[in-house]
Amino acid sequence: MLLVKIGGGDFDTDAVAADLASLSRPFVLVHGANKLRDKLATDLGRPPEVVESISGFTSVLSDDAAIDVLLAAYAGIRNKRIVEALRKQGVNALGLTGLDGGLVTGEQNRGIRVKRDGRKLLLRDQSGKPRSINGSLLRSLLGQGYVPVLTVPIAGADGTALNTDNDEVLALLSAELRATEVVSLIEESGLLADQDDPTSLVTRVDASELEAWEERVSGRMKRKIRALRKLFDNAGESSPNVRLSDGRVRVPVTAALAGAGTLFTRESRARVGDIPKSGRSDQWLERQAKQELDVYGKRGIAIVSGEGCYVRDADGASYLDCVGGHGSLALGHRHPVLEAALLEQARSIWFVPGSYGSPSRTLFLERLHEALPPELDRTFLCNSGTEAVEAALKIARAHTGRADFVAAVRGFHGRTMGALAVTSEARYREPFGPLLGEVRRVPFNRVEALEEALDAEVAAVILEPVQGEGGVHVADPQFLQAARDGCDRVGALLIFDEVQTGFGRTGRLFAFEHSGVVPDVLCLAKSIAGGLPLGATVVREGIGLAVGAHGSTFGGNPVACAVGRATLDVLLDTDVMTHVEDLGARICAPIRERDIGCVRDVRQVGLMIGIQLREAARPYVQRLQERGILVLTAGRSVLRLLPPLVLSAAAADHVGATVAEVLSEGVTIPE
Ligand SMILES: Cc1ncc(COP(=O)(O)O)c(C=O)c1O
Repeated sequence: MLLVKIGGGDFDTDAVAADLASLSRPFVLVHGANKLRDKLATDLGRPPEVVESISGFTSVLSDDAAIDVLLAAYAGIRNKRIVEALRKQGVNALGLTGLDGGLVTGEQNRGIRVKRDGRKLLLRDQSGKPRSINGSLLRSLLGQGYVPVLTVPIAGADGTALNTDNDEVLALLSAELRATEVVSLIEESGLLADQDDPTSLVTRVDASELEAWEERVSGRMKRKIRALRKLFDNAGESSPNVRLSDGRVRVPVTAALAGAGTLFTRESRARVGDIPKSGRSDQWLERQAKQELDVYGKRGIAIVSGEGCYVRDADGASYLDCVGGHGSLALGHRHPVLEAALLEQARSIWFVPGSYGSPSRTLFLERLHEALPPELDRTFLCNSGTEAVEAALKIARAHTGRADFVAAVRGFHGRTMGALAVTSEARYREPFGPLLGEVRRVPFNRVEALEEALDAEVAAVILEPVQGEGGVHVADPQFLQAARDGCDRVGALLIFDEVQTGFGRTGRLFAFEHSGVVPDVLCLAKSIAGGLPLGATVVREGIGLAVGAHGSTFGGNPVACAVGRATLDVLLDTDVMTHVEDLGARICAPIRERDIGCVRDVRQVGLMIGIQLREAARPYVQRLQERGILVLTAGRSVLRLLPPLVLSAAAADHVGATVAEVLSEGVTIPE
């Protein structure tokens, strides 16, 4: 269950309502209205009375006049405006205060002790602490499809209307409804380490750190943190993740669920889950080595859990993950929106053969095609990059009736027989020949060589807009345009392999968008589904395959598709892609600035980074791992980083500084 709280500031109610409606999941909304209350009180000539108690606390006195204004602002205008905005979006909203149906009852405060004219007085104060929630009423409303929209006042023991803190209502509600996620929208980017510095966002606070934070902050935030402590105390082991986030952005709830703002959590930094907690990395590796045909080589650690940009090994060490699933984790590990989509789909069905309709598949394909140029209008779904390429090659042969392919030197397209044939590196291909007949290889970015290679025998040209495994080399727009023109001239298909570059990696959803050159066939995989196996071959209008000509048992699995759709939602509806270029540049800045002897070149596009060394890159992978950063290589001498796009600016700076330091220190290669 999702709980959302809209604070009492000036938010665009229609925008929040539209965002909430787009979530398509049940939720309960709690809201404040303090700014409106203050304005109304002033307009009505009833400014709130602020009193100082004998013990030195200042508070707003909730007398009869104040409660009237409170009812008008909270229960009247704001509550009904939110209900109106939600209902306009098709959400079955029902406005309530804690009074209605005795939904929230509380204990009245004893009054405020003040000193007036030298005498001690107890001022009657209609405020109190919420103590219980009528959960069965709420559950029954939810069961009937209503979305409760709840605000103060609450009911005292005798039914009197009492003012209270909505954050405390939220804390009670969270335990009663066993909320799994709570989003609280405020007029800040989240919890700030320094209240005067809007850039000092604290991205994560563990429940155990809340007491210290309560001491550290003041004013309204202090009350919020105190209420959060209650929330975690009430909910115990089943505490939700709470996101305190900016309510003024375009899709505030989606953004919060996608990782914006501050996460308050009871989970330890990386959860070990059901994987046995005993044992050590070396023991796991030893056991695995006895069973596995290892084609990868190992890096000495066994990874047991991951969250966001961090993973943890079996020995408990944590690492900043710039391997990022070899580019498959655009949104990091276990992104909350993706996790929610995965769990939701897993609870309905896991497998639907391709010969049956599947809403999960349909919704994913619709979202994908909304994001693609309209001429790329059909998609075949599979499970991996190499399969997406394999389908592209078969489609090109079937469509043109020709046999030959043109591919680029340093190009990498996968390891099955067809994809391998168009891959450049001899050491990948040579042990497995004979492969596909005629593959013409042209140097990357050499227009003339490409034009010369094209003739009426060519079925397709296959290119990566940025070569990944080949060492992060960016295609010149003129080269891609020449490929487009050349293919059109000889009647061949242009295939772009965006298995690594797709889904925001270069700062655009697809790398071809930078050049504007649209291919006939687009191969996708890796980050398409948050790290689950999914691949796609998208084709231009009029290109196809006959029924029965191709297929894949697991292709377009409904769970992977549900996560794929959520991935697109996050990438397209939040601002995550707008930071990609800046984050990549931040990582590279310290490496570029220092004149490091072993560095020949730093190549970067978005968060695809290749550091060309004058020596072997592998020892630096090990050295960085010892410093808590996981990176990979591309070929022998390129250090490659493919971090999640949800990396924070501070983490990017840390990666850049550490890589620069480790490269400057150099390595002594053991004899
Ligand atoms: C551009 C490109 N194409 C294809 C592949 C093969 O993908 P997979 O390993 O999912 O088969 C890769 C993998 O790194 C790749 O980078």
